[in-house]
Amino acid sequence: MWDYSDKVLEHFYHPRNQGVIEDTGDPAFAVVTGEVGSLACGDALRLHLKIERASERIVEARFQTFGCTSAIASSSALTEMVKGRTLEEALAITNQDIADYLGGLPPQKMHCSVMGQEALEQAIYKYRGVAVPVHHENDSPLVCTCFGVSEERIRKVIRDNRLTTVEAVTHYIKAGGGCGMCRDVIADLLAQTVMPPRLTTVQKINRIQAVLSTLRPYFQQDGGDVELVEVEGDQVWVQLTGACGDCSSRWTTLKEVIEARLRQEVWPTLVVEAVS
Ligand code: FES
Repeated sequence: MWDYSDKVLEHFYHPRNQGVIEDTGDPAFAVVTGEVGSLACGDALRLHLKIERASERIVEARFQTFGCTSAIASSSALTEMVKGRTLEEALAITNQDIADYLGGLPPQKMHCSVMGQEALEQAIYKYRGVAVPVHHENDSPLVCTCFGVSEERIRKVIRDNRLTTVEAVTHYIKAGGGCGMCRDVIADLLAQTVMPPRLTTVQKINRIQAVLSTLRPYFQQDGGDVELVEVEGDQVWVQLTGACGDCSSRWTTLKEVIEARLRQEVWPTLVVEAVS
């Protein structure tokens, strides 16, 4: 028997926001779905979001989940957490945030919180019309055929949660929990995915400024610019100005250019958001 928190049991027995969201065709809103897991793997989640286009705010969230107590509780919690948030704010939610909201999950059940975070990310990226960049299953070799888990997805969960053992990887994304044939490969990935030493806030700010100064000339060529506003933990706030501030591909610039470069050159789990 798993040792569940009271909040997990409460969300399991009384799940919030179960079901689908009807798309009424109102052009002011979009309804999108993120879907992760599969019935063959034992857990599957469909997360439905209703997004107000003008404010890019989630006004409604519902879920359909096939899975265990913690899968249902994680899905229910997630729908409560995202309601009223902007897409940027929702993207900042980590799987650990979902587990924390529930008062913790047993280590063996952390994959339920990962499933929720991935469904959320997938739904938002679908709304943005771009592919999920880091754990897209088609872009990376498949490591665990039992659970359909790619190499990049394993690397991401190791980095994001600072995992150090094959067993922990199995708890978070199930890889390695079937026939066991992939466990040696997961151990190799753990050995390769070395986290850099922690940076102080001052070191982080200096490195971020250095990266932004290399990007700035490209933005200025197009009549725009970027300024660092604030850094708190892994959260980085920047201001896009001039043409960059008004550009329709502002979000792509923010995530696929600035965030991608900062993750590569400063710290692998930074999340960049824009202030207006
Ligand atoms: S291939 Fe990963 S557990 Fe079977």
